Amino acid sequence: MPDDRIGTAPGTAPTGQIPVSPNNPCPFLRALVANGYVGGHAVPLSKLSEIVGDASGQTGPGKKKVRLATWLVAVIANGLGPLRVLKSATSGAVLDELRDGPLDKHGGGSRILDVDAKVHEDEIAWLAGFGKDYKDPSGGVERGLTAKEIDTFMKANIKRDGDAARWYYPMLMKGEWPVLLKILGKGEGEARYLSVAEVRTLFVERRLPERITKRLPKPASR
Ligand code: HEM
Repeated sequence: MPDDRIGTAPGTAPTGQIPVSPNNPCPFLRALVANGYVGGHAVPLSKLSEIVGDASGQTGPGKKKVRLATWLVAVIANGLGPLRVLKSATSGAVLDELRDGPLDKHGGGSRILDVDAKVHEDEIAWLAGFGKDYKDPSGGVERGLTAKEIDTFMKANIKRDGDAARWYYPMLMKGEWPVLLKILGKGEGEARYLSVAEVRTLFVERRLPERITKRLPKPASR
Protein backbone atom coordinates (compact mmCIF):
# COMPACT_ATOMS: atom_id res chain seq x y z
CA MET A 1 0.00 0.00 0.00
CA PRO A 2 1.35 3.45 -0.80
CA ASP A 3 1.98 5.31 2.36
CA ASP A 4 1.30 8.98 2.84
CA ARG A 5 2.96 9.36 6.22
CA ILE A 6 5.84 11.75 5.96
CA GLY A 7 9.09 10.48 7.40
CA THR A 8 10.38 13.84 8.46
CA ALA A 9 10.56 15.10 12.00
CA PRO A 10 9.14 18.62 12.23
CA GLY A 11 11.74 21.24 11.52
CA THR A 12 14.35 18.87 10.07
CA ALA A 13 13.46 19.06 6.38
CA PRO A 14 15.69 21.53 4.54
CA THR A 15 13.41 23.97 2.74
CA GLY A 16 12.31 22.99 -0.73
CA GLN A 17 12.59 19.27 -0.13
CA ILE A 18 9.93 16.84 -1.21
CA PRO A 19 8.56 14.69 1.65
CA VAL A 20 9.72 11.05 1.55
CA SER A 21 7.67 8.09 2.76
CA PRO A 22 9.03 6.18 5.78
CA ASN A 23 8.38 3.09 3.69
CA ASN A 24 11.44 4.04 1.67
CA PRO A 25 14.24 2.90 4.02
CA CYS A 26 17.20 3.50 1.67
CA PRO A 27 19.14 6.64 2.60
CA PHE A 28 20.49 7.03 -0.92
CA LEU A 29 17.09 6.76 -2.60
CA ARG A 30 15.56 9.02 0.07
CA ALA A 31 18.00 11.77 -0.90
CA LEU A 32 17.18 11.29 -4.61
CA VAL A 33 13.43 11.52 -3.90
CA ALA A 34 13.68 14.44 -1.43
CA ASN A 35 15.58 16.52 -3.95
CA GLY A 36 13.41 15.70 -6.95
CA TYR A 37 15.85 13.53 -8.92
CA VAL A 38 13.30 10.70 -9.01
CA GLY A 39 9.66 10.48 -7.97
CA GLY A 40 8.68 8.96 -4.64
CA HIS A 41 6.42 6.19 -5.97
CA ALA A 42 6.88 4.06 -9.13
CA VAL A 43 10.16 4.89 -10.84
CA PRO A 44 11.04 3.19 -14.15
CA LEU A 45 14.14 1.03 -13.74
CA SER A 46 15.79 2.75 -16.72
CA LYS A 47 15.45 6.11 -14.97
CA LEU A 48 16.61 4.76 -11.60
CA SER A 49 19.62 2.96 -13.02
CA GLU A 50 20.57 5.99 -15.12
CA ILE A 51 20.61 8.34 -12.15
CA VAL A 52 22.61 5.89 -10.00
CA GLY A 53 25.02 5.46 -12.94
CA ASP A 54 25.42 9.26 -13.14
CA ALA A 55 25.92 9.54 -9.37
CA SER A 56 28.67 6.91 -9.51
CA GLY A 57 30.79 9.19 -11.67
CA GLN A 58 31.71 6.18 -13.83
CA THR A 59 31.71 6.31 -17.61
CA GLY A 60 31.67 3.70 -20.41
CA PRO A 61 31.65 0.04 -19.29
CA GLY A 62 32.03 1.07 -15.60
CA LYS A 63 28.79 3.01 -15.79
CA LYS A 64 27.05 0.14 -17.62
CA LYS A 65 28.05 -2.19 -14.77
CA VAL A 66 26.60 0.16 -12.13
CA ARG A 67 23.40 0.51 -14.16
CA LEU A 68 23.00 -3.25 -14.50
CA ALA A 69 23.66 -3.83 -10.78
CA THR A 70 21.05 -1.19 -9.88
CA TRP A 71 18.54 -2.71 -12.31
CA LEU A 72 19.01 -6.16 -10.77
CA VAL A 73 18.53 -4.89 -7.22
CA ALA A 74 15.54 -2.71 -8.12
CA VAL A 75 13.71 -5.41 -10.09
CA ILE A 76 13.35 -7.60 -6.98
CA ALA A 77 13.00 -4.78 -4.42
CA ASN A 78 9.20 -4.97 -4.22
CA GLY A 79 8.84 -8.74 -4.21
CA LEU A 80 10.28 -11.94 -5.62
CA GLY A 81 7.15 -13.44 -7.22
CA PRO A 82 7.31 -13.71 -11.02
CA LEU A 83 4.35 -11.37 -11.55
CA ARG A 84 5.76 -8.77 -9.19
CA VAL A 85 9.19 -8.94 -10.86
CA LEU A 86 7.55 -8.54 -14.26
CA LYS A 87 5.58 -5.55 -12.98
CA SER A 88 8.75 -3.97 -11.59
CA ALA A 89 10.56 -4.57 -14.89
CA THR A 90 7.78 -2.94 -16.89
CA SER A 91 6.39 -0.21 -14.64
CA GLY A 92 9.26 0.40 -12.24
CA ALA A 93 10.30 0.02 -8.64
CA VAL A 94 7.84 1.37 -6.10
CA LEU A 95 10.03 3.38 -3.76
CA ASP A 96 7.39 4.05 -1.10
CA GLU A 97 6.68 0.32 -0.77
CA LEU A 98 10.19 -0.98 -0.08
CA ARG A 99 9.63 -1.55 3.63
CA ASP A 100 9.09 -5.26 4.39
CA GLY A 101 10.24 -6.12 0.86
CA PRO A 102 12.98 -8.67 0.06
CA LEU A 103 15.75 -6.11 0.71
CA ASP A 104 14.50 -5.03 4.14
CA LYS A 105 16.74 -6.52 6.80
CA HIS A 106 14.40 -5.56 9.64
CA GLY A 107 17.08 -4.15 11.92
CA GLY A 108 19.93 -6.31 10.58
CA GLY A 109 21.62 -3.22 9.18
CA SER A 110 22.87 -0.03 10.77
CA ARG A 111 19.53 0.74 12.51
CA ILE A 112 20.19 4.44 11.85
CA LEU A 113 16.69 4.79 10.37
CA ASP A 114 13.80 3.21 12.23
CA VAL A 115 10.48 2.10 10.71
CA ASP A 116 9.15 5.66 11.03
CA ALA A 117 12.24 6.96 9.19
CA LYS A 118 13.39 8.64 12.40
CA VAL A 119 17.18 8.96 12.60
CA HIS A 120 18.92 7.47 15.64
CA GLU A 121 22.00 9.50 16.52
CA ASP A 122 23.29 6.76 18.82
CA GLU A 123 23.44 4.43 15.80
CA ILE A 124 25.45 7.02 13.85
CA ALA A 125 27.82 7.02 16.85
CA TRP A 126 27.94 3.19 16.65
CA LEU A 127 28.96 3.45 12.98
CA ALA A 128 31.56 6.14 13.78
CA GLY A 129 33.03 3.83 16.44
CA PHE A 130 34.25 1.50 13.69
CA GLY A 131 36.15 4.30 11.95
CA LYS A 132 39.28 6.37 12.47
CA ASP A 133 40.34 9.92 11.80
CA TYR A 134 41.52 10.39 8.23
CA LYS A 135 43.11 13.24 6.30
CA ASP A 136 40.48 14.84 4.10
CA PRO A 137 42.02 15.36 0.62
CA SER A 138 40.40 18.80 0.55
CA GLY A 139 41.88 19.77 3.93
CA GLY A 140 41.58 18.93 7.60
CA VAL A 141 40.96 15.65 9.39
CA GLU A 142 37.66 13.85 9.79
CA ARG A 143 36.21 10.59 11.06
CA GLY A 144 35.61 8.01 8.35
CA LEU A 145 35.44 4.30 7.55
CA THR A 146 37.61 2.52 4.98
CA ALA A 147 36.39 -0.59 3.11
CA LYS A 148 37.96 -2.79 5.78
CA GLU A 149 36.30 -0.87 8.61
CA ILE A 150 32.96 -0.97 6.78
CA ASP A 151 33.33 -4.74 6.55
CA THR A 152 33.91 -4.99 10.32
CA PHE A 153 30.91 -2.70 10.91
CA MET A 154 28.63 -4.84 8.72
CA LYS A 155 29.75 -8.05 10.46
CA ALA A 156 29.08 -6.43 13.84
CA ASN A 157 25.57 -5.47 12.66
CA ILE A 158 24.83 -9.07 11.71
CA LYS A 159 26.18 -10.30 15.03
CA ARG A 160 24.07 -7.77 16.92
CA ASP A 161 20.97 -9.00 15.09
CA GLY A 162 21.55 -12.49 16.54
CA ASP A 163 19.12 -15.19 15.45
CA ALA A 164 17.03 -12.69 13.47
CA ALA A 165 19.78 -12.30 10.83
CA ARG A 166 19.18 -14.31 7.66
CA TRP A 167 21.96 -16.06 5.75
CA TYR A 168 21.67 -13.75 2.73
CA TYR A 169 21.96 -10.45 4.65
CA PRO A 170 25.73 -10.21 4.01
CA MET A 171 24.97 -10.37 0.28
CA LEU A 172 22.41 -7.56 0.50
CA MET A 173 24.81 -5.47 2.55
CA LYS A 174 27.44 -5.62 -0.19
CA GLY A 175 25.13 -3.42 -2.30
CA GLU A 176 24.68 -0.83 0.43
CA TRP A 177 27.62 0.53 2.49
CA PRO A 178 30.42 -0.62 0.13
CA VAL A 179 28.58 0.98 -2.80
CA LEU A 180 28.08 4.16 -0.80
CA LEU A 181 31.85 4.14 -0.16
CA LYS A 182 32.44 3.77 -3.90
CA ILE A 183 30.24 6.76 -4.67
CA LEU A 184 30.88 9.10 -1.74
CA GLY A 185 34.34 7.98 -0.64
CA LYS A 186 37.26 10.37 -0.38
CA GLY A 187 40.83 9.41 -1.20
CA GLU A 188 41.97 6.49 -3.32
CA GLY A 189 42.73 2.78 -2.99
CA GLU A 190 42.86 1.25 0.49
CA ALA A 191 42.90 4.72 2.04
CA ARG A 192 39.50 5.61 0.53
CA TYR A 193 37.07 6.34 3.33
CA LEU A 194 33.39 7.15 3.83
CA SER A 195 33.02 10.37 5.79
CA VAL A 196 30.82 9.99 8.89
CA ALA A 197 29.79 13.65 8.59
CA GLU A 198 28.54 12.99 5.04
CA VAL A 199 26.71 9.84 6.16
CA ARG A 200 25.03 11.94 8.81
CA THR A 201 23.99 14.60 6.26
CA LEU A 202 22.66 11.87 3.97
CA PHE A 203 20.48 10.29 6.67
CA VAL A 204 19.44 13.42 8.58
CA GLU A 205 19.12 16.01 5.81
CA ARG A 206 18.57 13.63 2.87
CA ARG A 207 21.28 15.44 0.96
CA LEU A 208 24.23 14.28 -1.16
CA PRO A 209 27.41 16.35 -1.28
CA GLU A 210 27.61 18.92 -4.05
CA ARG A 211 30.48 17.07 -5.78
CA ILE A 212 27.99 14.22 -6.37
CA THR A 213 24.91 16.29 -7.28
CA LYS A 214 27.07 18.11 -9.86
CA ARG A 215 27.13 14.80 -11.78
CA LEU A 216 23.32 14.59 -11.88
CA PRO A 217 20.91 16.18 -14.33
CA LYS A 218 18.88 19.07 -12.94
CA PRO A 219 16.01 17.68 -10.84
CA ALA A 220 12.72 17.57 -12.74
CA SER A 221 10.43 18.37 -9.84
CA ARG A 222 11.17 20.69 -6.91
C1 HEM B 1 23.96 3.39 -5.52
C2 HEM B 1 22.83 2.97 -5.11
C3 HEM B 1 22.52 2.69 -3.67
C4 HEM B 1 23.24 2.94 -2.53
C5 HEM B 1 24.60 3.61 -2.41
C6 HEM B 1 22.47 2.43 -1.42
C7 HEM B 1 22.87 2.47 -0.09
C8 HEM B 1 22.16 1.99 0.98
C9 HEM B 1 22.58 2.05 2.36
C10 HEM B 1 23.89 2.64 2.86
C11 HEM B 1 21.60 1.49 3.10
C12 HEM B 1 21.54 1.45 4.62
C13 HEM B 1 21.76 0.12 5.22
C14 HEM B 1 21.82 0.23 6.73
O1 HEM B 1 21.18 1.05 7.35
O2 HEM B 1 22.55 -0.60 7.29
C15 HEM B 1 20.56 1.05 2.19
C16 HEM B 1 19.40 0.41 2.55
C17 HEM B 1 18.44 0.01 1.68
N1 HEM B 1 18.42 0.18 0.31
FE1 HEM B 1 19.78 1.13 -0.77
N2 HEM B 1 21.29 1.90 -1.90
C18 HEM B 1 21.29 2.03 -3.27
C19 HEM B 1 20.32 1.64 -4.16
C20 HEM B 1 19.16 1.00 -3.80
C21 HEM B 1 18.16 0.53 -4.72
C22 HEM B 1 18.22 0.67 -6.25
C23 HEM B 1 17.17 -0.03 -3.96
C24 HEM B 1 15.88 -0.62 -4.42
C25 HEM B 1 15.12 -0.12 -5.35
C26 HEM B 1 17.57 0.07 -2.56
C27 HEM B 1 16.84 -0.39 -1.49
C28 HEM B 1 17.25 -0.37 -0.18
C29 HEM B 1 16.47 -0.91 0.92
C30 HEM B 1 15.11 -1.60 0.83
C31 HEM B 1 17.22 -0.68 2.10
C32 HEM B 1 16.84 -1.04 3.51
C33 HEM B 1 17.61 -2.22 3.97
C34 HEM B 1 17.38 -2.48 5.44
O3 HEM B 1 16.70 -1.75 6.14
O4 HEM B 1 17.87 -3.49 5.89
N3 HEM B 1 18.77 0.72 -2.51
N4 HEM B 1 20.93 1.37 0.90
